[in-house]
Amino acid sequence: MLTEHAVLFEPLSVKGVNLRNRIVLPPMVSNRDIAEAEGVDWYREFAEGGVGLVIVEATRTFRFDTDLTPDSLRPLVESVHQAGAAIAIQLFMAPEDGRDAPAEMTREDVQRGLERFARAAAICEQAGFDGVEPHGAHGFLLNQFFSPKANERTDEFGGGLDGRMRMGLEVVRSVRSAVNGDFLVLYRHTPVGDGYGLEDSLIFAQQLEEAGVDILDLSPSSDQAPADRAEPFKQVVKVPLIAVNGLNAHARAVEALTAGRCDLVAIGRGLIADPEWPKKTLEGRLQDIVRCTQCDQGCFGNLRSGLPVECVQHD
Ligand SMILES: Cc1cc2nc3c(=O)[nH]c(=O)nc-3n(C[C@H](O)[C@H](O)[C@H](O)COP(=O)(O)O)c2cc1C
Repeated sequence: MLTEHAVLFEPLSVKGVNLRNRIVLPPMVSNRDIAEAEGVDWYREFAEGGVGLVIVEATRTFRFDTDLTPDSLRPLVESVHQAGAAIAIQLFMAPEDGRDAPAEMTREDVQRGLERFARAAAICEQAGFDGVEPHGAHGFLLNQFFSPKANERTDEFGGGLDGRMRMGLEVVRSVRSAVNGDFLVLYRHTPVGDGYGLEDSLIFAQQLEEAGVDILDLSPSSDQAPADRAEPFKQVVKVPLIAVNGLNAHARAVEALTAGRCDLVAIGRGLIADPEWPKKTLEGRLQDIVRCTQCDQGCFGNLRSGLPVECVQHD
């Protein structure tokens, strides 16, 4: 390994969950069934490639009412653990019956949404996952609760910042109440979003930490400089931060960690291009890494067309 890359391979222990290095597979919908061999094989490859933490793709919480059970998820969890990585899963609050904005949800919808997070988290814990990550980012329903533009509710789940933070915080509390203390609760949040800026997000981050979040995943967290959107959070919370976006370039990932902007670097498309990015880096074989060119065809392109996500570099 090149000495300049050593910072990527420092282990990190979070509440007794040992991460062998600082490299994270961020959640990415793969259009494969995670309860079937195709999904298990997909995620095993990233673990074998050497990441420290696999975060399984956005998974609709209502699926835990039906086909996602401890038994159906165990093969996925066990294969990632066997390959030496920790494993969490992103939980996604999908709109129901077309009610796709906060103000369209009834009180019962909100309550059911919270209960589903709790149930999903409990099932994930039984399946052996190390943690769960509510998906509060990227303008989707849970993130909309935080947005003064998208959240038109007039009850205590809307209005000022306290109201806009409530759903995210209740989700975390609901999850926390359903799992053991050492089970990791991550949270993915977009630092600057629809109608809100960093100031609001910094307050939210502190409250998320108080509510029981163990790792804050900030997406997107880079702007001009690597991970610069993540850096201000370092000043206000103690929990480890994940930065993501364009950290596939070694120099950027190393700089983000060395400068202390974040504690973990997530590499999305770069790992789809080459799941062995960590292993090859560790072995000093940089020239063998298949590089993501950000063409976005096989990954985002296939995601949109409902095809299995892959990388066109492998054709
Ligand atoms: C195919 C694909 C699927 C994605 N699915 C999710 C998802 O399920 N949840 C999520 O929060 N972000 C999702 N993302 C965003 C990634 O987690 C990541 O934040 C983004 O790709 C930027 O990182 P990168 O520059 O290293 O690729 C997806 C990205 C891609 C390419």
